[in-house]
Amino acid sequence: PPHPDRPRVLPPGPAAYAEAAETLTAGNLVAMPTETVYGLAGDAGNDAAVAAIFAAKGRPSFNPLIVHVADVGAAEALVHVDDRAARAMEMWWPGPLTLVLPRRADAPLSLLVSAGLDTVAVRSPAHPVARALILAADRPLAAPSANVSGHVSPTTPMHVVEEFPDGGGARLRLILAGGRCAIGVESTVLDLTGDRPLLLRPGSVTREELESVLGPVDVATAADGVKAPGMLISHYAPGLPVRLDATTVGDNEALLAFGPDQFLRGGAVRLNLSNNGDLTEAAANLFAMLRALDRPGLSGIAVMPVPDRGLGIAINDRLRRAAAPRT
Ligand code: TXA
Ligand code: MG
Repeated sequence: PPHPDRPRVLPPGPAAYAEAAETLTAGNLVAMPTETVYGLAGDAGNDAAVAAIFAAKGRPSFNPLIVHVADVGAAEALVHVDDRAARAMEMWWPGPLTLVLPRRADAPLSLLVSAGLDTVAVRSPAHPVARALILAADRPLAAPSANVSGHVSPTTPMHVVEEFPDGGGARLRLILAGGRCAIGVESTVLDLTGDRPLLLRPGSVTREELESVLGPVDVATAADGVKAPGMLISHYAPGLPVRLDATTVGDNEALLAFGPDQFLRGGAVRLNLSNNGDLTEAAANLFAMLRALDRPGLSGIAVMPVPDRGLGIAINDRLRRAAAPRT
């Protein structure tokens, strides 16, 4: 039987937004669709709500959260927006670009949100349901991906229910159903606090696109340590082990294919990210297919190579973490 604290899935609409806004104001959590993945949203100004997000996810307290806002004006109340940041916002907001900027001393945010750093990650999502929720709640919303820390990110409402069957300790009350996420991998995270922009997480806004507007962009490595607390190696991990760059597949393995796969024989179960090798389609399918192939009794998931260009860079980043030794 379903757990008594299982979150309710609500179709979006005026009544759902009003109830969700009330839930957030009371310090509880709401899962919302964005164009990238589903987010686990709470009032970013409420310590108890932010603590509930960390607790529900089992997220290490050193790993800060993204704050979601309606527009540039709302971001300016939280962080210092210089000319370079303003150009990036003008170009990509609303959309899948998160900017790490210096936190304003008077920002009405819980200190827990930025995990002790003097910066805040801000993002203005494009998804109409996320936008309507931010406006209805009338406050900035802290929202990490709506999965248990280390698991595969959710791209449908049912994935969120699977992650939090007990409502994450009864704090997650509602899931706003917005269908499948169009992009399917998390936002690009760009740190704009240094002399040069620093790419902390690849996403659908690519390094080349950023450089065409902002000039040279560095890519974060493990050496960037505390500036990039999200660079945990094992992440996005299904239950089964993941094997990359597969050119063969065992009889008891699942195959996650990309492009033409008829020449590859075997596999207990097979799915294809994109039969015709389309990276946009592959990104949108990635997390749902990893979940679908994660079946008890199989020995692992073999993944065919995905080209390391454009959106393929974000896909390969997620796949490498899914395949990394579990911690
Ligand atoms: O697409 C997305 O960004 C989704 C949707 C829900 O908006 N959210 C998301 O949040 O992916 P999360 O918490 O799963 O990932 C946030 C990433 C983490 O790698 C975190 O370390 C980094 O952003 N981050 C957040 N605040 C930061 C800060 N102040 N400095 C550096 N990195 C930060
Ligand atoms: Mg996440």
